[in-house]
Amino acid sequence: MQKIGVIGGGTMGAGIAEVCAKAGSDVVILEVKQEYADAARQRVEKSLAKAVAKNKLSQDDADATLGRLRVTTDYADLGDRELVIEAAPEIESLKQEIFTQLDAVVGDDTILATNTSSIPVIKVATATKRPERVVGVHFFNPVPVMPLVEIISTLVTNDETADAVTSYVRDTLGKTAVRAGDRSGFIVNALLIPYLCQAIRMLDSGYASAEDIDAAMKGGCGYPMGPLTLIDTIGLDITLAAAESLYAEFAEPHLAPPALLRRMVDAGQLGRKSGRGFYSY
Ligand code: 3HC
Repeated sequence: MQKIGVIGGGTMGAGIAEVCAKAGSDVVILEVKQEYADAARQRVEKSLAKAVAKNKLSQDDADATLGRLRVTTDYADLGDRELVIEAAPEIESLKQEIFTQLDAVVGDDTILATNTSSIPVIKVATATKRPERVVGVHFFNPVPVMPLVEIISTLVTNDETADAVTSYVRDTLGKTAVRAGDRSGFIVNALLIPYLCQAIRMLDSGYASAEDIDAAMKGGCGYPMGPLTLIDTIGLDITLAAAESLYAEFAEPHLAPPALLRRMVDAGQLGRKSGRGFYSY
């Protein structure tokens, strides 16, 4: 697989497009508006410039990577893709609409993948006429830096599809691939989101300050970021959506999203991207 499509050029989509193009694939990012498409390209340019500044990439390789990347607003430009990875917002109906549209433009053998962090993959697979060739591929933020990708097979994904995507992730992208079943949260978010929500409850109860909660997990467990800093980085809205999905799936009280998380999202305090979350930026 060398012709890759990416739906959505936000933080995750741009990151996915970047690692695929850096690995030598020909990549097309689809966005809904030209200005978003241009912004996606700029995100990739900025990240590549950072990689060059940190001596992770030569300027020639950065230029070649950009040469392999196109942006578009037209689904028809995805017609020749071998693998399309959707990284649109976490709205089930939106993803289903995208998969139905994609199904109509790509070839019969094309594999369709979703980067959803929490929506069951089967729900988007059944929006197509090829559910056996739909798979979850869940990358982590920041995509160029985090080595892991979760590969999720649904009840109907065929082995050929899961194997082809696993091989692309491992052999072409050089990432670590793990396989997980089609349950909300897969492996990482099923463990991470309850931990993050517990840190919010701890803060909300006045048990410890944000700074001390973060310092404790960094210094005590060797995590690169404390939980509240990590939520600010992931986005409070994304964290809430993931917590809601876990609660909807398992209905266990400890998975219910904390009220403070909901109120902060209501207030537009989404973390780093909005300038304010548990900290100010
Ligand atoms: N391209 C390539 N390499 C880059 C880069 C880029 N754009 N930006 C940074 N790097 C490299 C740096 O050179 C450095 O490499 P080195 O360790 O070999 O020197 C490394 O990445 C770390 O970069 P920095 O030194 O700039 O930054 P930090 O040391 O502060 O680390 C971090 C930043 C990697 C984000 C670290 O804080 C971290 O690992 N945080 C936790 C992130 C995390 O948990 N992510 C998962 C979120 S959950 C998720 O995504 C799932 C979703 O569904 C919710």
